[in-house]
Amino acid sequence: MLLKDKVALITGAGSGIGRASAIRFAQEGAKVVAADLRPESAANTASEIGNAGGTAKSLAVDVRNGTEVERMVNETMRAFGRIDILFNNAGVFVPKNVVETTEEEWDWVVDVCLKGVFFGCKYAIPHMIKGGGGVIINTASGAGIEGVPRLGAYQAAKGGVVIMSKGIALDFARDKIRCVSICPGVIETPIAENCNQIPAGASPAMWSRSGMMHPLGRNGKPEEVAALAAFLASEQAGFITGVAVPIDGGFNAGAWFPPELRNS
Ligand SMILES: NC(=O)c1ccc[n+]([C@@H]2O[C@H](COP(=O)([O-])OP(=O)(O)OC[C@H]3O[C@@H](n4cnc5c(N)ncnc54)[C@H](O)[C@@H]3O)[C@@H](O)[C@H]2O)c1
Repeated sequence: MLLKDKVALITGAGSGIGRASAIRFAQEGAKVVAADLRPESAANTASEIGNAGGTAKSLAVDVRNGTEVERMVNETMRAFGRIDILFNNAGVFVPKNVVETTEEEWDWVVDVCLKGVFFGCKYAIPHMIKGGGGVIINTASGAGIEGVPRLGAYQAAKGGVVIMSKGIALDFARDKIRCVSICPGVIETPIAENCNQIPAGASPAMWSRSGMMHPLGRNGKPEEVAALAAFLASEQAGFITGVAVPIDGGFNAGAWFPPELRNS
């Protein structure tokens, strides 16, 4: 088991990558706090873990709100006495360029994706320091390291997550805190439905189109991102910090090459 007896706090754990990671972390022996804006989906994740014999608690949180994030951290401390792993994963997107994006949409995306990561780190790090160290994983995106059309606010937020994670890694390395960001390509999760960007049920057509963007010729699965996160959170990754790790089927390697030149 990679995470035996570790305490992991995961945001956005009611769906997609966060849910798969909560389940995987529990399978690896961690005690999990599954936090989400939607309390019922966080509770579903926690009960799935409990039914499989793991230990989990669910919490409602809006990561845009510092008071709520501080409460989430304090409730995790009350429940399990420490925080070894913080996985700042909640995220939303709006598929618009900067001219089309309204101020309200900008604030929504940047507050969830970037300010939420700031709040998580701000309130969890002091407990990690007192506990002798920890690991922070922040979900950025392939769109945080490469230009992607029509993702104005999202790109700004995710690029911010990448560089903020590097700075945090430097600031707290001597406190034995590692901090990394992960940069997924397109992962088949309900994010588009959750952000009301596509009608329910439209995913399959969207997924088949986006799969070909990746040199490996398919989209990723939330369980594959969960496996990466479990490794990065574990002591096996003990010398890894300050990096942005792509998990993108080769997109970051040069997906702009036409398919005929890259044999896919
Ligand atoms: N799916 C992809 O293709 C993809 C690609 C790159 C990066 N990402 C990133 O991965 C992360 C997880 O996305 P996903 O694909 O699993 O999406 P998802 O919609 O399945 O899960 C995101 C979860 O975050 C929660 N959430 C939204 N706003 C919140 C808030 N204010 N406070 C707390 N929770 C909130 C949602 O309720 C949802 O359960 C996000 O940061 C996303 O930007 C996803």
